[in-house]
Parts: sequence; structure tokens; C-alpha cells
Amino acid sequence: MDLKVELATNGELKKKPTDPLNLPFGSVFTDHMLIMEYSGGEWQQLRIEPYHSLELDPSAMVLHYGQGIFEGMKAYRSDNQIYLFRPDMNLKRLNASAERMVIPTVDAERVLEAIRELLRIEREWIPEEKGTSLYMRPTIIATEPKLGVRPAHEYFFYVILSPAGPYFKEGFNPISVMVSEKYVRAVRGGVGHAKTMGNYAASLRANKESSKAGFSQTLYLDALERKNIEECGTMNVFVHFEDELATPPLNGTILPGITRDSVIQLAREWGFEVSERPIPIQEIVEGIETGHVLEVFGTGTAAIIAPIGVIGYAGEKYKIGDGDVGDLSRRLFDEITGLQHGLVEDRHGWVEKIT
Ligand code: COI
Repeated sequence: MDLKVELATNGELKKKPTDPLNLPFGSVFTDHMLIMEYSGGEWQQLRIEPYHSLELDPSAMVLHYGQGIFEGMKAYRSDNQIYLFRPDMNLKRLNASAERMVIPTVDAERVLEAIRELLRIEREWIPEEKGTSLYMRPTIIATEPKLGVRPAHEYFFYVILSPAGPYFKEGFNPISVMVSEKYVRAVRGGVGHAKTMGNYAASLRANKESSKAGFSQTLYLDALERKNIEECGTMNVFVHFEDELATPPLNGTILPGITRDSVIQLAREWGFEVSERPIPIQEIVEGIETGHVLEVFGTGTAAIIAPIGVIGYAGEKYKIGDGDVGDLSRRLFDEITGLQHGLVEDRHGWVEKIT
């Protein structure tokens, strides 16, 4: 493979965290990163280099117009084997985000091969405890120094790695979400389905208000009617009704989550009636009150399965079930983390072992 590798010297190597389960998400980075530049109309050589700062011209286009995208993917380790979970889907989504943001797509197989090599180099950084992983952040930014509003001609692709425990401080315990009646996340025709930076910047205000009100996340409603739930900004959402597992459809305003897709497939195989359909918030709060809603949970690469114990809406707090982790959430969490760590039989061809 056309990959240039420059290893960090012994003196440059960092101290590895001793307690990954309690590491705040995305706070520690490994010794190396993967890099590739785009210039002259094509992606250049892939390089692995010691982790380092980037030098950007102050006029770099990403800094002004936000032409940038990223992915979230994870590597897992057990019995000293390294596993990836559906990595092809992440690369596919990276390229779909690139198309939407007029960023040149990458050669997914070449990049994946380089990521595998990066992981071989960083294998000691991959924590082994259940619920931990090495979170990977492939990113592409527009680096051309120019203030005109147009797609850039120069880009920088990089992948950094961060050992991670649970995304939420609650761990695998129910979190609370507040339905935002004031802010929306995305509108059809916009960029809600792309993993582009501005979506996350736009969520900060709503999250600040949710957090001030004592909730850990924001649950968005559709922008047009403010009627149907969409997603949480960092995770897709599922509602387990007595006779149905429902999740909002991919209509351009929510991120096509890979965990979301895996949950849909697994639940169907387990005999659940799964629908991708608009879900009115009113139906959820009524269902909570009548007991028709058994569970609500979020799904995401970082979040995995995040049980939701309380929904705040229109000044009221709705407690779901007994406020504990529901049976389906637990079953999905165990199955997905089991698959990711190579401990559960992979009937779908989702798990890749890196040799
Ligand atoms: C992920 O689940 O990987 C995400 O990117 C969500 C968040 C950490 C930004």
C-alpha cells in the first residue's frame, strides 16, 4: 500500500491512561495520526505521523464557512485481538457527507487499509474493558486560504484516536432528555443527514438550555410542524411501544446512524415489529402516561445504546417505566458490545478482526 509511516521517537510517546472507563470522552489522544492532503485536484499520499498540531492559514476556508466533515468510529480489543464494527459504513457515510458539502470523496478501501495500519501501531492504546474502545475521528477540512464563498481547492484529511469509556457520565444508565420547543436541528433539503461540523455548533445553544434545566441531552422536533421527534444531535432515537419498535425515518433531517441500522436489523430478527415512521411527541408522552411506551433509547457510535429515563416536554417531566434500563435496551447493548468485542457470533459479517 502507498502509505508513508513516520513513528514517534521513544521520548515522544505519551503515557497511556490507566482507567479508561473513567476517562472523559475525547480528552486523550494517541501517539500517531493518519494524514492525507488534497491538492492539484487529487488526494495525495496517506501518511502516518506522530500526533501533532496543524498549521492553518487564518483564511483557511473551513474556519470561515465551515466546509468540514467528520466521522465517529471505534476499534475494540479483547484477547489482544483488534476488532472493527462495520467500518465500511463509516467510510460510506464520510463520502456521503463529502458529496453534500462539495468535498472530494476519498478512496474508502485505501483509507480503511491505512486506518488498520494505524491501529496496528497504536494497539496498546486500545482499552480492553467492556464498554471501552478506541474512538476514531476521521475528519476532512477545507484548508485553502481564500475568503470567497465556493468549494475549496485544498483539503486536509486526518484521523485521530482517543481511548474512550462511556460517552455519558451516567454510563449505561438512563439519561434525561429535554424536547426543545424553541430550537430545531435540521430541515429537509439542509445538511441534517451529513456529519458536518455546523450541525454540532448549532446544537450548542439548545444543549446549554437543556443542561441548565437539568437534562443531559436535547431531543429535537421536526422543523416544519414541531410535532414529530427527530434525533438528539449525538444519537438517533427509538421508542419501544408495547407492539412496535419505532424510530424516525431517514428523510434528510437526521443522521443515518450505523448503530441505528444495526438495531433495526437485530430487532427485526428478534421478532419485533420495527417501523421507521414519523413519531409525534404527543404520542410518546401519552404512551408514557398510559404505559404503552415501554422504553425509549438513543443509539450512536459514541453513545452505543443510551437508555432514556426521563423526557422533559412543555414544562412537564415524563418518567419512562420505572426509570431503570429496559429489557430491550439491555439486550441490544449486550449484543452490540458483545459483537464489537468479538464475543458474540457475528452472523451479519459486521465485525472485522485486524491481523
Ligand atoms: C459519534 O457517535 O461518533 C458522534 O460523532 C457523536 C458525537 C460524539 C459528536
